[in-house]
Order: sequence, then C-alpha cells, then structure tokens
Amino acid sequence: MEIFGKRLADEKIYEGQNRTDDPKEVEKVLANILAAQERPPGTKVLDVGCAAGDFLRYLRNQFPKFAFTGVEVLKNLADLSIERSPGIPVRVGSILDSTFFKNESADVIFCNGVLQIFEDIETPINNLLQALRPGGTLFIHTPVNDTPVDWITRYRRAETFESTWELGWNIFSTLSFDRVLEASSLKLEWTWQAFQMPFPLGKKDDPMRSHTFKTEYNQFQEQVGGLLLINTKILIVHKPSEGTTKD
Ligand SMILES: C[S@@+](CC[C@H](N)C(=O)[O-])C[C@H]1O[C@@H](n2cnc3c(N)ncnc32)[C@H](O)[C@@H]1O
Repeated sequence: MEIFGKRLADEKIYEGQNRTDDPKEVEKVLANILAAQERPPGTKVLDVGCAAGDFLRYLRNQFPKFAFTGVEVLKNLADLSIERSPGIPVRVGSILDSTFFKNESADVIFCNGVLQIFEDIETPINNLLQALRPGGTLFIHTPVNDTPVDWITRYRRAETFESTWELGWNIFSTLSFDRVLEASSLKLEWTWQAFQMPFPLGKKDDPMRSHTFKTEYNQFQEQVGGLLLINTKILIVHKPSEGTTKD
C-alpha cells in the first residue's frame, strides 16, 4: 500500500542547527545506557538517519575510543555531517534497502526519530537487525502508542493553498513493534524504556516542531501540529552472542 506524501522537513531543520554540545534529552539518556554497557574500545557504533551528525559528534565526545559511522538518505545532510565531523564516515543510503545493510557489522546501532516516517516498520527493523553483530544492541527512539492501534498520518501546511501533503508522524503501537520482533528468525531480547521530557518545550514558529503542555497525566506532554499528542519510548533490542537464530 502506498499513500502519497513527502518528507520535507528534515533538511531545513538539521542544516540550521548544530547540537554537538547541546544534545537532545533523549540523546543523553541513550548515552547513559550505552555507558552502562561498558563496551570495549573499538566498539562499532552506527547511527541510522544521522542527519547532519549532531548525535554522532556528541557520542564521539563521550566515547572517544569507539568507532562511529552514519547512514543518511539525504546526500546534502550526509555531506554536512562529514564536513562537520571529520573522521566519521557517513554512507548515503536507505534504511529500507536490505542490500545496503548486508555487510554491516555494528556492535551498537541507534535509529532515532526515523521509523515514524514509514508506513511499514518491519522492513526497516529487520534491516537494522541484519546490520547488528551477535552480542550487539539496537536502540530505537520513536513515537509509540501503548494502546494497540497504529496510525498513519499526513499533514499539510494550510496557509498556502495547494501545499504538499507531508509525512513523518506515523505512530505505531508497542504491540506492533513487539510482533515484528517476535516474528524475527533471530533470537532476540528486548525492553521498552519510557521517555518523558524533563522540562517544558516552548512553541516554535513551525507548528510541526513539538512543544509541551500540562495534562492530568503528564506535566510536559509533547504535541505537534496543534493536535497530535506525541509519546515516545526507547526500544532496546539485544541480539544474543550465542545461537543467534531460533531453533
Ligand atoms: C526526524 S530526522 C531525525 C534525525 C536524527 N536521528 C535525530 O534524532 O535528530 C529523520 C532523519 O532520517 C532520515 N531519513 C529519512 N528517510 C530515511 C531512509 N529511508 N533511510 C535513512 N535515513 C532516512 C532523514 O533524512 C532525517 O535525517
């Protein structure tokens, strides 16, 4: 099934910011989880959908003995990442292309804020798992729905007549993610970690950048587009070192 829509937002956002020394809150949480794993020097870390490399540079500052690479579908952003992060290679390619990931052998993979772009989560998750070494960990940070309902959305900026329908805010249920992992031929172990903003985010000029407001349940509930409530989680998937496939 293909539903028309374009992802337009990323180039402008990531060209216009450099958050190496001002990481997102979730990136600090992810770095803390990685530190607790006490991985050895030389650990290979891959960031898929790395945009202009902000998270890669932050991680390299935290873990100078690890080896970092990125994957990014937009060549302009990949080039910008390479320019801003000497020594961190970035390959231009798509998370949806299984052949692209065949020869990867990452110990740790991050994929933050990417899966909500797609109508199907099975292909990208399986490609990420393919890129992971036995003993490796995949971290996915994405909006999710704890109620077993999946959402596919399109939005358009209504000030301009005939503006393009954009995508990037699909929300899959945690159950659907669990099902994809359960269906894998690999022996996997996974956990979900809730993530909540620890402070308020103000409204921006672009209504599709999230801001927070207080609700009965959440002091800093994220919202986009004046309507859609965003709750995100971190999915942590381990590929055991021994007996990688199911019997
Ligand atoms: C919302 S941004 C998130 C960027 C960064 N990971 C972060 O958390 O700030 C989504 C990124 O995924 C990239 N992307 C979109 N489709 C992709 C695909 N098929 N394969 C790889 N990257 C993709 C976009 O170009 C963009 O850089």
